[in-house]
Amino acid sequence: MACTIVVGAQWGDEGKGKEIDLLAADADLVVRYQGGGNAGHTVKVGDQTWVLHLVPSGILHEGRLNVIANGVVVDPQALVAEIDELERRGIKIAGRLFISDLAHVTLPYHKRMDEAREARRGAVKIGTTHRGIGPTYSDKFARIGIRMGDIPDEAVFLNKVRRNLEEKNHFFVDYYKVPEVREEEIVGPYREYLPRLKPLITDTVRLLQDALAQGKRILLEGAQGTLLDVDFGTYPFVTASNPSAGGACTGTGVPPQAITGCIGVAKAYTTRVGTGPLPTELPPEEEERLRILGREYGATTGRPRRCGWFDAVVVRRAAAVNGLTRLAITKLDVLDQLDVIRVCVAYRHGGATLEDFPNRTEVVEACEPVYRDFPGWKASTSGARRWEDLPPRARAYLEAIRDLTGVPLGLVSVGPCRDETIRIP
Ligand code: GDP
Ligand code: IMO
Ligand code: MG
Repeated sequence: MACTIVVGAQWGDEGKGKEIDLLAADADLVVRYQGGGNAGHTVKVGDQTWVLHLVPSGILHEGRLNVIANGVVVDPQALVAEIDELERRGIKIAGRLFISDLAHVTLPYHKRMDEAREARRGAVKIGTTHRGIGPTYSDKFARIGIRMGDIPDEAVFLNKVRRNLEEKNHFFVDYYKVPEVREEEIVGPYREYLPRLKPLITDTVRLLQDALAQGKRILLEGAQGTLLDVDFGTYPFVTASNPSAGGACTGTGVPPQAITGCIGVAKAYTTRVGTGPLPTELPPEEEERLRILGREYGATTGRPRRCGWFDAVVVRRAAAVNGLTRLAITKLDVLDQLDVIRVCVAYRHGGATLEDFPNRTEVVEACEPVYRDFPGWKASTSGARRWEDLPPRARAYLEAIRDLTGVPLGLVSVGPCRDETIRIP
């Protein structure tokens, strides 16, 4: 393993949480490198289900260290609520969770800005999670952000908050016509969460450099997915960070030459939450059937996910920009009872056949998928634990995905639990 990135190869919710929890058995550290509370990573252990938003998906394995690295945006109130819930359910946090002093802080004005901007967008909403992600990253790049390392010093923190509130409230009141954010709304919660978070804030760049020097095995956990990447995704219907592999280096300080592999997680079909193109989206009735079979409702917002067939053009883009070394295909079991299963192999656009994902979102919106049909296997796969246990038609389907994307298969997931997995050597 050494230092492996786990990245979403579609539009998020591919089952990264499950795979990271599984792979964490062979890791020493699990490190979240970007995104924030917009993520919802589901991990099922026995009959217990956990949904992690900011805490890395290695937390359920005793003895693993978990790092929220510099590339993540941290809402301190949401993080404390998540920690409380984990501790209430018996998970030890002290000494196992570290937060980068360089990570930027999401404050109530970021969430209000997220909501106000979305409301203003009217019919062309991005459909954000309203977790303040875009505004926090905007402030980071505008160089007016506040970092976790600033919060232990109340005077420094409040100074920066006051300076920002002046500008933000001007926009809220005069432009967006929404209530201003009062300083008390920030200071009250701050005094409560500070003592909880202060002991966890540290120099995680150093921590990770030491771990690398000691030959520790590190898993770098991506949130969202490649097609939600602010550079490589369907802009502007994307998130505000770089979920793709490059983000794992900038988001942690782990240098590129330390990376030994990159696992792309993809569902055996495709889903998306929020607006933006989804070329293989199914017509409403078929979509609803797949949504029910796959229980496709958002882990963070509860919104119904849009559903479509597996799109090899999308995963080829993910293979290219992430340098995927292996694919983890999840939710194969969801397709068990279908008569016919389709895979999009290319797009048709204006009389041309496109093999590569178009950069312009307007072009993606106008693309028609070219499908190859596969006969369904019509048998349960959830008990399969080895490649040979799978029905021949399921194997043929997976081999087609491998060949169409050019990435060898590493894992096939046939259920939400840890053991419902086939490892392919
Ligand atoms: P993430 O954001 O990539 O971690 O994915 P989510 O947790 O948002 O969504 C994936 C959902 O699929 C969760 O409810 C998982 O428990 C579930 N899941 C993961 N792998 C499988 C699988 O192989 N089969 C089935 N049926 N469910 C799965
Ligand atoms: P995980 O890590 C799926 C989507 C939102 C919206 C867009 C921008 O669980 O895979 P944002 O709040 O980030 O500004 O919203 O991105 N989105 C996700 N979709 N899974 C996620 O995370 C997502 N995080 C954000 O629905 O379309
Ligand atoms: Mg999710």
